[in-house]
Amino acid sequence: MRVRAAVDADLPVIAEIAVANDDEDGADPHYVAHLRDHGRFLVAETDGGPAGYCGVRRTGEVTMLTDLFVHPDRQGGGTGRRLLDAAFDGAGERSTFASRDPRAMSLYVRYGMVPRWPLLYLSGPPPGAGALRAERVPMAEAGLAESALNGRDRAADYAFWATTPDATGLIACVGGAVVAAGAAGPGRVFHLATADGHDAAATLAAALAEVGAGPVRLCLPGPHPALRRLLDAGWRIEDSDQHMSSRPDLLSPADVLSPSLG
Ligand SMILES: CC(C)(COP(=O)(O)OP(=O)(O)OC[C@H]1O[C@@H](n2cnc3c(N)ncnc32)[C@H](O)[C@@H]1OP(=O)(O)O)[C@@H](O)C(=O)NCCC(=O)NCCS
Repeated sequence: MRVRAAVDADLPVIAEIAVANDDEDGADPHYVAHLRDHGRFLVAETDGGPAGYCGVRRTGEVTMLTDLFVHPDRQGGGTGRRLLDAAFDGAGERSTFASRDPRAMSLYVRYGMVPRWPLLYLSGPPPGAGALRAERVPMAEAGLAESALNGRDRAADYAFWATTPDATGLIACVGGAVVAAGAAGPGRVFHLATADGHDAAATLAAALAEVGAGPVRLCLPGPHPALRRLLDAGWRIEDSDQHMSSRPDLLSPADVLSPSLG
């Protein structure tokens, strides 16, 4: 077995492995292109072609494992390990979201990560608007706003979220200062970062009010201050992953997060 960078000719097999694992991202060529352009997308090749793939990228000091999928016929045979050896070669701090497959958490613990909190896949009706309002802005502007509030350069991710039809950047301001920035699409909040010390439940309510009247999907850390309010309003937990990291402070549990991109 050989681990190498994915090439265009691998895309159909990557999509096939993704679909066999009920994973939407690997079947989306925009997503794979995003990782290939701004990180690494690796395949584990056997004589019969790619048996699995992973996505990985570096943001600041942190290497984030974005994807790890092995064809169901090959699971449990060491492919995941081979991909992780390559993904984390030379990595310092590291983080990921583990699925509920026990092999995933078992491997990630042994590659230096500790389970931190669940990331909940939620859906439900937007609660009524509060006092804080969010405004729609171009994606690039939202990316710059996030960078100003938490120092993270997520410009490439905002450009990726912009490939969803009718997606928009969002910001919320208090007294002229941006306190939250994110990205949303129809019925979906992809990401929302709130400045330290501001009310993340209020900024999420503002974003949800802007996204629309129908059901909305988003991924929320278990410790997020809005969770109880959403569940009280009838939101449903559809699935969950486990955030794992080499250090406890690598991701904010007060942000709306994307399970692959953070
Ligand atoms: C999770 C996944 C990527 C792992 O890849 P894989 O090739 O199956 O994994 P490997 O064979 O390299 O390693 C599995 C490890 O889990 C261990 N393991 C298996 N079942 C376990 C259990 N119930 N508890 C603890 N460890 C377990 C195995 O012993 C092995 O460890 P070892 O190499 O030290 O013996 C693959 O199984 C998969 O695609 N699963 C479905 C999709 C998914 O959930 N992906 C993860 C997204 S985060």
